[in-house]
Order: sequence, then structure tokens, then C-alpha cells
Amino acid sequence: MTPARLGLRARASRVLLDNWHGQSTVPSGGLYPHQWSWDSAFIALGLRHLSPRRAQRELESLFGAQWPDGRVPHIVFDAATPADAYFPGPGFWASAAVTGPGFPATSGLIQPPVHALAAWETFRAAPELARERGFLPRLYPRLVAWHRYLTGRRDFGGRGLVCVVHPWESGMDNSPAWDEPLGRVRPATAFTRRDLDHAAAGERPTDLDYGRYVRLARTYRDLGYADDPAGHEFAVEDPLTNALLAASEAALAEIAAELGHDPAPHLAELARLTAALVDVLFDEGDGCFHARDVHSGQVLRLGSVGGLVPLVVPGLPVADALVKTMLGPRFRLGELGLPPSFDLTDGRFEPARYWRGPAWFNIGWLLWHGLRLHGEDELAGTVRAGLLSAADDAGFREYVDPLTRSGHGAHDFSWTAAVVLDLLEWGHER
Ligand code: SER
Repeated sequence: MTPARLGLRARASRVLLDNWHGQSTVPSGGLYPHQWSWDSAFIALGLRHLSPRRAQRELESLFGAQWPDGRVPHIVFDAATPADAYFPGPGFWASAAVTGPGFPATSGLIQPPVHALAAWETFRAAPELARERGFLPRLYPRLVAWHRYLTGRRDFGGRGLVCVVHPWESGMDNSPAWDEPLGRVRPATAFTRRDLDHAAAGERPTDLDYGRYVRLARTYRDLGYADDPAGHEFAVEDPLTNALLAASEAALAEIAAELGHDPAPHLAELARLTAALVDVLFDEGDGCFHARDVHSGQVLRLGSVGGLVPLVVPGLPVADALVKTMLGPRFRLGELGLPPSFDLTDGRFEPARYWRGPAWFNIGWLLWHGLRLHGEDELAGTVRAGLLSAADDAGFREYVDPLTRSGHGAHDFSWTAAVVLDLLEWGHER
């Protein structure tokens, strides 16, 4: 290990220690001062090497805010943080009206279900501590209820796939993939953005996007967060969400076996989801997956990196095609070592604007993980080196320009640091 790498590990650890708030980790102190759902899963993947106990707490505190219907909210508000530090804050979501008392204040949306995968990896880092603390026995039924919520309440298209009802749910808020369905939504007007206090406007979604996000969230809230397809203007079957659900079913099978339960139902669910993903969302001609708009029936045929994330699904039958697409001119992964979030050859590509082009470290981790899963070790090594050197050069930024590697968005971003810690550990251990 070189001194530079030692320095990187120490700096990444510092970010996670500074962003720890007692029970969970904020993604970044200014821009995102509460707990976010899929952030916590990626944070646990890195935190497990620093403090396995904290990594377990990270997931336990998130699932402590799980709703009675099984949904895991995308934000859990920190009661010690001023209500106006983030918009939309706890008053906007009014979650207690649905959960009743005794629950922390949360949003009512979801985020991609990468949690079972993170829980299994967290367990594997410190099995003895986990067994002593009853980590998996407590978490497993909650993970099962979470997946049941998704498959039972969100299959609006009736094709066996989960729908997201808000761009925030996809995790890739302003991806050009959502421009068309989002464009039909009449924007809300009277609200004050807080994100622009912490990040440059050119690196964030536009005001028009925000108006539409607020409209969709208000409508869901006013419906009491009912999952009735007719109540949602925006409803898409998203490849990233469904792929992470499938990968998490594979992890649930491992967890079930560890706990002495039957893994077969989880493996059957993995097979069912994989078949649905490939049958409904894979585009053979294009060599990647595309989201589908449930209301218009239209395939959203755009080059979002979310369409490559199904590589994380064990046994995916079209992995070769995805690798070919990653290496091609739209993503240039072999050359860049970083995954652009959107097609480099499309006029809508913007290298510094959130999910319209920048490379993100969690997506890099998922592709690295998927490449190893499918025996693509050389390309996995290229991605690992690319992510580590980008973090070393730019610092632990929220995202980087995939072409120039300049850093953008939040500083000291937790999942960037967590991904770095995990990748360093991997290179070190094996
Ligand atoms: N990503 C959203 C934001 O920018 C919320 O999940 O605040």
C-alpha cells in the first residue's frame, strides 16, 4: 500500500466519522442534513470496515423508521436538526398522519432497495459481533416486509415490476430519462429551495424540475400516500430499482440460510424478477435496459446509466451485452474508468449537472460489483482504479465530471468516502 493510499483511507474515514450523528450518518452536513435511505446502505458498505457496530446501527436506525405498510422512507428526519435546514422538511411530509405516533418524522417516498445487499455485506464484515447483537434476526423480517411492500403495492403495470412514483424515488432525480413523463406535470410554485444555499444552481436540478417534484410529492401526501395507480401522474418501471431489488433478493437468500430459514422463496423471487426485468425492460438492439412509462406504455429509450445497473443481478443472462455497451462510445468505461450517468453522445448530456452526466461513486461501486460477479475482473479493476484516483484528486465530492474529473456538488460526501473505504479494503485483503 502506498503512502498516498494510506492518506486516502485516513481522509475517507474522517468524512464518515464527522458525518456520524449518533445513530446514522448524514450524506453531507449542509445539503443533506438528515438520514437518506439508499445513502445509508452505501454508507454501511464502507463503515463496516471502520466500525462494524456503527454500520449495523446505520441500517437498524433506518429500518426503525419503517412504516407499518413496510415502506422504508427515503428520508428520516433528525429531530435535532432545524426543520427548515432542508426542503421539503418534516412539516411538508406530515408522515405522522399516516404512521401514527411513535414513529420518527420521515418523507413518504422510497429509494432504491439496495438494503438487503448492504445488510448481508455488513454482516459478513463482522459475523460474530452481528450474531451477538442479533443484527440479522432483527433486520430480516423488516427486509422481507420492505420487499413485500414493493412487489405487493407498487406493481402498477401488472408485469411483475416495481414502479417508482417520483423521480426522487429513482435516486437519479433529474436524469433525462424522466424528462418526458415529468414534463406532463404542472409545476408547483410557492416554495423555497434550500439546496441552492449549498450547491451551485448549474450543478443541481432546475427550478422547473423542482416545481414538478414538489407537485408530485404534495399530491402523494394529500392522497395519504395511497398506492393507487390512478393517483400518480408519474409512474415508471425503473431498471435500477428492479435490479437492486433482485440483487437484494439474492442477499435475502443468503441471510435466510444464515438464520436457518429456507432460502428457496428468495431464489424463486430472484428468478421471477430477473425474467421480468429482461422480458419487459431489456432492449436487445440497444444493449441496455430502459425504463417504461406505465401511463403511456412508452419505453423511455435514453442512455441512462441506470440501464446498465442490472449487471448487479446474479445470473443475469444479458451481462455480455451490458459490458459491450459500457465499453462503447456512450459510456467509454474502459477509457474513463468512471461511469457517466448519462449517454456522452446525447445532446442532453451535461457533465456537471447532478444526474444528467456526472459520474457518481455509488453507481461506480455497483458496476464494479456487477463486473466481478460476471467474471469481468479486468474492467472491474479499471473501474476500481478510476474511482479511487478520482476521489484522491477531487476529494470526496458528491459527483465528478467524467471527462475532466473535476469535482461537483457537496463536499465530504459520505457515500463517496464509504465506497473508497470498501474499494481500498478489497484491494488490500484479496
Ligand atoms: N435527492 C433529493 C435532493 O436533492 C432528495 O432525495 O434533495
